[in-house]
Amino acid sequence: MLPVGSLAKKTIMLDVDPVAPDPAVIRQAAAVLCSGGLVAFPTETVYGLGANALDAEAVRGIFAAKDRPAYDPLIVHLADVARLPDVVDAAPPLAYDLAETFWPGPLTLILPRGPRVPAEVTAGGDTVAVRVPAHPVALALIRAAGVPVAAPSANRFGHISPTQAAHVLADLGGRVDVILDGGATRVGVESTVLSLIVSPPAILRPGGTSREALARVLGDVCVVDHPTFTEVAPSPGTLMQHYAPRAKVTLYQGPDEAVLPVMREAASHLLAQGVRVGLLLAEEDVAAFAGLSVVLEIVGRRELLEEVARQLFTSLRALDRAGVAVILARDFGAAGLGLAIRDRLTRAAGGRVINVTASPSR
Ligand code: TXA
Ligand code: MG
Repeated sequence: MLPVGSLAKKTIMLDVDPVAPDPAVIRQAAAVLCSGGLVAFPTETVYGLGANALDAEAVRGIFAAKDRPAYDPLIVHLADVARLPDVVDAAPPLAYDLAETFWPGPLTLILPRGPRVPAEVTAGGDTVAVRVPAHPVALALIRAAGVPVAAPSANRFGHISPTQAAHVLADLGGRVDVILDGGATRVGVESTVLSLIVSPPAILRPGGTSREALARVLGDVCVVDHPTFTEVAPSPGTLMQHYAPRAKVTLYQGPDEAVLPVMREAASHLLAQGVRVGLLLAEEDVAAFAGLSVVLEIVGRRELLEEVARQLFTSLRALDRAGVAVILARDFGAAGLGLAIRDRLTRAAGGRVINVTASPSR
């Protein structure tokens, strides 16, 4: 990707051990953050594009690098729940209960914004998104910088989130100062965004912390549905067309025995028209497509949703690189991480979801 105009930066890629990061490398990256620069770093979910959250100018740099619209607010990353009062105005006890169970980890809380947080971070709103990531590199970087770190996913706006440093380089090379390469991320989908502004708390974006796990602490939690593109959505980043590869995606939902034949038929039909077809499947699905000249991406075994979530974005990027025009993706249900996987695929599909019901003859 070529640097554009004033965005042109010399991007430095630094290898870093994901378990025991070299303090010298961390110090170098932290110094860049402290001087207003942009540092991409691994978290347990996806790579983030970080800037000093208290520096409005640096935060504007994030929006420019990503081509992100200013109405989409950022998540502030802390190294410790004890720093919450730095960025939040009077966090309720429930925030501390949730932090106790889920932080560090893939849960973002929406809370009242503290006065030190610039409007750029929150898109002018009076709430702020906060989380403590569960990744040694992210935690070391935030600690060394000594400031809260605002970081969206380190991809171009609307594109697939990066789970490897190479993905960041492909999207943001020449637009960021440093990329810390700590290998592939463990969770693979972004954090769950939970609003504590409303009661009962509401999931604005399903993610790495499951609804079931939250319900064990909260008792009651609803999931906000975002059926359409809207700039006044409660969580503006949850746009319908998001996480999108170049290829046109269709998501197939329904029981396996009904879905797979319908997908096979759709693939055959497209192939007959000369369309290059990619399939996003579970390992067990492959046999159902024997003999078709399609590009296969296996995201994992059906029941192992951790595997599927970890592989999902890499597979979508791989299908794009393979040059397919169309991607037919299978659904993985709504239990556990399945809900986040469904959410990302539905957005990648821009809402093109086909619900296959079980055939009555079976
Ligand atoms: O796992 C993650 O959450 C990753 C890593 C880097 O931490 N970050 C991430 O950031 O996915 P981003 O910017 O790609 O997504 C943040 C989401 C967006 O949907 C945004 O609209 C929402 O959080 N959000 C941020 N601040 C908000 C606020 N004050 N109220 C409601 N939603 C907010
Ligand atoms: Mg994002």
